[in-house]
Amino acid sequence: MPDRVKIFDTTLRDGEQSASVSFTNDEKFQIAKMLEKLNVDCIEAGFAAASPADFDAVARIANEVRGTSIASLCRAVPNDVEQGWAAIQGAEDPRLHVFISSSDIHIAHQLRSGREEVLQQAREMVAKAKGYVSNVEFSPMDATRSDPDFTYRLLSECIAAGATTINIPDTVGYAIPEEFAEFINGIFQNVKGIDNVTLSVHCHNDLGLSTANSLAAAAIGARQIECTINGIGERAGNASLEEIVMGIKTRPDFLDVECGINTEHLVPLSRMVADYSGMHVQPNKAIVGLNAFRHQSGIHQDGVVKLRENFEIMDPKAVGWSEGSQFVLSKLSGRAGFKARIEDLGYELDTEELASAFLKFQELADKKTVVDDRDLEAIMSDRLGHVAEAWHLESLNVTTGTSATPTASITLRGPDGRTHTAAETGTGPVDAVYRTIRQITGMQDRLVEFSVQSITEGVDAQGEVTIRIDIDDSTYTGRASDTDILVASAQAYMNAINRYHQGAVKATRASTSLTE
Ligand code: KIV
Ligand code: ZN
Repeated sequence: MPDRVKIFDTTLRDGEQSASVSFTNDEKFQIAKMLEKLNVDCIEAGFAAASPADFDAVARIANEVRGTSIASLCRAVPNDVEQGWAAIQGAEDPRLHVFISSSDIHIAHQLRSGREEVLQQAREMVAKAKGYVSNVEFSPMDATRSDPDFTYRLLSECIAAGATTINIPDTVGYAIPEEFAEFINGIFQNVKGIDNVTLSVHCHNDLGLSTANSLAAAAIGARQIECTINGIGERAGNASLEEIVMGIKTRPDFLDVECGINTEHLVPLSRMVADYSGMHVQPNKAIVGLNAFRHQSGIHQDGVVKLRENFEIMDPKAVGWSEGSQFVLSKLSGRAGFKARIEDLGYELDTEELASAFLKFQELADKKTVVDDRDLEAIMSDRLGHVAEAWHLESLNVTTGTSATPTASITLRGPDGRTHTAAETGTGPVDAVYRTIRQITGMQDRLVEFSVQSITEGVDAQGEVTIRIDIDDSTYTGRASDTDILVASAQAYMNAINRYHQGAVKATRASTSLTE
């Protein structure tokens, strides 16, 4: 019987460290519920000490998600361990994940400390965590650029202090697979007590090697892999969960390990994370990219028709590319059919949420003959990305064309409850819309990203607009979808402005850096 490799998902922690990504707490909760269905072994729900909003998100997930361990990340300082424990104590299997840098470059130039101090801090904080909970993970940050002998000593002492999982991060994505496997082997040979704990790896993708490094480590005995949906994460991201899982499922002959993931949820979860993060998945991305199972050349098409396995090493249905996107609803579909499909896609709604989502569906079905899974996901994404509205779009009219100066006329309802109307011209219709909204709201933002993506095919398709604006050194994301892309553009901008008004998360978190 092959050994089981535990899948540790850190989409909500390292994934949220992707530049400009910030999930709302409702979005985090929905992602965590999908991870529960996926049957991951551990969800790193966040970094509880980072901000009150992060604390609440971790606590909600700890209290309401079952069947998996829930972890909070903690720097090796007392307050982080205390906050971490306070947030996760409602979990079925709570875990504290303590980390401190172990490389000389980080110790000297970031911590401005010394090796002996690092040893003492790590020992003491692992022991403190152990005082709260039996499940304690320790990570020596920047392990792959650390002196191996110092790392062995640090890990041996953390195991003696109570760590039950030892995680080896390739923090800067520097390792090469053979070298990484060698490093892991050194840990197996030289760390006292390593046979009694789980050895984990956490690889970043700076050289595009995070999946290769993780699987190389599994092949020689690592029994936990840390990864994120779509590979999102700090800089070039983390190892991508879907690649790790399908590597394990597809090549047991070589890797001789298994994992307990319900793979049919991979594609729906990938779409959910792409929507909520505003980070689109590239079409040629393994497993979850639009082209991952599309065959273009005649020879390949002919081969697949004769026998799927001629050109496919995985079954697309097994990873969630079901007939789902062909499963269509229309304005004749009732609430029960809508509810069943939404639940199949992994969303959990209470009665009130269902009623408002169903209303949006009916509005869309009036404009669009068929509404498929991608439209439903967009409806859910708009609903969950919705924040308390300081400013509300009442009406929008735009004139544009080859012989007209693009002009927008807009009415907004403001925080004072009154309506405000203005009209502005612009270099194009979107520019006119944004200038008019700025004129009314007095926003002093800088638009740093604007993208439109068609959600489905056809001229009646919804356009999904994602924008990012910078205000006072913080970035706010807004997104919206509509069959009219000018309406979607205006709504996306309003969404970003309202996030700003709500004092969105990233701004508050800026005061607590992971490496302080
Ligand atoms: O990349 C890293 O080193 C981390 C640690 C905090 C585990 O994310
Ligand atoms: Zn990381």
